[in-house]
Parts: sequence; structure tokens; C-alpha cells
Amino acid sequence: MLNEKVKDLLNDQINKELYSAYLYMQFANYYEEKGLSGFANWYNIQVQEEKDHAMLMRQYMQMHGDAIVLEAIAKPDAVLKEPMDALKAGFAHEQYVTGLINNIYSAAYDVKDFGTMQFLDWFVKEQVEEENNASTLIQKMELFGGDPKGLYMLDQECAARVYTAPSLVLG
Ligand code: FEO
Repeated sequence: MLNEKVKDLLNDQINKELYSAYLYMQFANYYEEKGLSGFANWYNIQVQEEKDHAMLMRQYMQMHGDAIVLEAIAKPDAVLKEPMDALKAGFAHEQYVTGLINNIYSAAYDVKDFGTMQFLDWFVKEQVEEENNASTLIQKMELFGGDPKGLYMLDQECAARVYTAPSLVLG
């Protein structure tokens, strides 16, 4: 069994990861509606990754014999008026998630739960990657997105992204 606070935070994080999937689904829907199917692909892969994150946390809790309480997933309500909006909302969201992961890490540290710290190491690294991916996309959009040809090329680049299963595998 995990420490009560660590367990509650992990349980809550499952909900947050599923919300992230839901938010990115909103983004993918937006891009699909705008005819930017490459960006839609990029966010559809994000959806899959967020579901993976939730499932890994669920599995980790189950390995410790802790019960999981599933709560309602909030409605994604990003205001998307132009293609850049989702990218910026996505980057801000990943920064928020980094804070949440750090918070769980800190709770595990306080009770010397080294197992959870080691488990979370993967997520700490993943968040660096998530933030970097999001900010790189913003930078490219700033550079090339103002021109229809540039936007088309960027959409093609996003279309080439492929899903890869998480490198973290639990027992
Ligand atoms: Fe689950 Fe995008 O971090």
C-alpha cells in the first residue's frame, strides 16, 4: 500500500492525464474541422500518449494493492480561434502537468518513498520532452505558419508523426 497522500495524488493524476487526453482530442477535432489533418494527427497521438500515462499510473497503484477511484473528467474548454491557439494552450497545459508531477514527486520524497520516485523519474523526463515538443511546434508556427505554403508544409510534417508505445514497462 502506498502512503495516503502519495496514493491520493497519483489517483488524481489518473484523472488529470485522462483530462489531458480529452483536451488534446478537442485540439485534434478543431484541426480536423479546419482541414489541417496533419496537426490533427499530431494531437491524436498526444491523446494516445496521455491515455498511456493514465494507464501506467493505474497499473502502478494496482501493483501496490491500492484501490482506484475514477472521478468525472472535466469538459475541455480551450478557446480555439486560430491554429496557434491550441499550440499555446497545449504548451501551457504541459507546464501545468509538469507542476503536478513535481508535486507528487515531492510528496514521495517527503515520506522516503523511493519506489514512487523512481517510477516518477520516467514522467519527469517525459515532461521535459512534452514541453520541448510543444514549444518547438509554437516556434515553427511563428516562423512559418503565417504563410499558407509554410502552414501546409508544417501540417505535412505533423502528419508524419507516428505513435510509439511508452518506454516505461511495469512488471
Ligand atoms: Fe501526460 Fe502530456 O503529459
